[in-house]
Amino acid sequence: MSLLSLSNVTVRYGRLTAVRGVSFTMAEGEVLFVTGPNGAGKSSLLRAVAGVVAPAGGRIDLADHDITGRSPETIARLGLSMVPEGREVFGSLSVEENLLVGTGMHAGTRGWRARCETDLAAVYATFPILKDRRRSQAGLLSGGQQQMLVIGRALMTNPRLMAIDEPSLGLAPNIIDQVYDRLTELRRHRALALLIVEQSSTRAMMVGGRMMLMRGGEILLDGDARALGQSEAMQSAYFGYGEH
Ligand SMILES: Nc1ncnc2c1ncn2[C@@H]1O[C@H](COP(=O)(O)OP(=O)(O)OP(=O)(O)O)[C@@H](O)[C@H]1O
Ligand SMILES: [Mg+2]
Repeated sequence: MSLLSLSNVTVRYGRLTAVRGVSFTMAEGEVLFVTGPNGAGKSSLLRAVAGVVAPAGGRIDLADHDITGRSPETIARLGLSMVPEGREVFGSLSVEENLLVGTGMHAGTRGWRARCETDLAAVYATFPILKDRRRSQAGLLSGGQQQMLVIGRALMTNPRLMAIDEPSLGLAPNIIDQVYDRLTELRRHRALALLIVEQSSTRAMMVGGRMMLMRGGEILLDGDARALGQSEAMQSAYFGYGEH
C-alpha cells in the first residue's frame, strides 16, 4: 500500500483553480520533490495534503485513512507533518517552547511530560544547535537555525511523512547544505518520507530521489530527479516552451 495517495485532487480559491485534478502516490520513506515556477500550485498542493485547505474535488489517502478535508491536527496525528513556507516561529518564545507548541493537548500531565522529553531528545539529537540554544528566544536565531527549528517542531508529532515548502528560500548555499544533510539523515534513520517543494530543480538533482514538475496546477513530468533535471523536457515544461 502506498503511504500517500492523491486522486484527481483540485484546489480552488474562489474562481481561481490552483491545482487541477492532480493524482500521484508516494511510497514509505520516499523523497519526492515538487518543482515548478511561481504560481504553479505547489504550495496549494501541500496545503491540501496537510489539510490547511480543503480540496474542491478528489481524494487524499494517508496509508489506510481517507484524509480528504480533515483538519491539519487530525492529519498530523495520522502521521503527516507540514512545514509551511516562511519559517514562522514564535519569536518571543524560547526554542524549547516553540518545539512544545502543538503538543499541549494534555499539557501538564505526567504522561505528556515524559512523551515530550523523549520527542525533545530525539529532535535535539538531530539538531544539536537547538539544544544549545533551547533557552534562547526563537526570534534571535539565524534563518538557518529557524528553519531547523520549524523542521524540529514538525518532528515532535513523530511523522511518517513530512511535507516541506521551500526550505531553502532565502538561505545561503552552505546553510541549505546543512538543512538538507539533516533531512537526509532523518530519512535514513527514521525512514521519514519527504515531500519537498522547491522552485528550482537544483537541490533535487543534488539530493536525488524523485521529482515532479508542476505548472499551471498540473503535474507535467514525474521521474528520477537527476535524469529529469538534465532533460530538455524539463526545461521546456518549466518555461512552457511550445505552448500558445
Ligand atoms: N490564499 C489564496 N487565495 C487566492 N489565490 C491564491 C491563494 N494562494 C494561492 N493563490 C493562487 O493560486 C495559484 C497557485 O499558487 P501557489 O501559491 O500554490 O503556487 P506556488 O507554485 O507555490 O508558487 P510560488 O513558487 O510562488 O510559491 C496562484 O495563481 C496564486 O495566486
Ligand atoms: Mg509556494
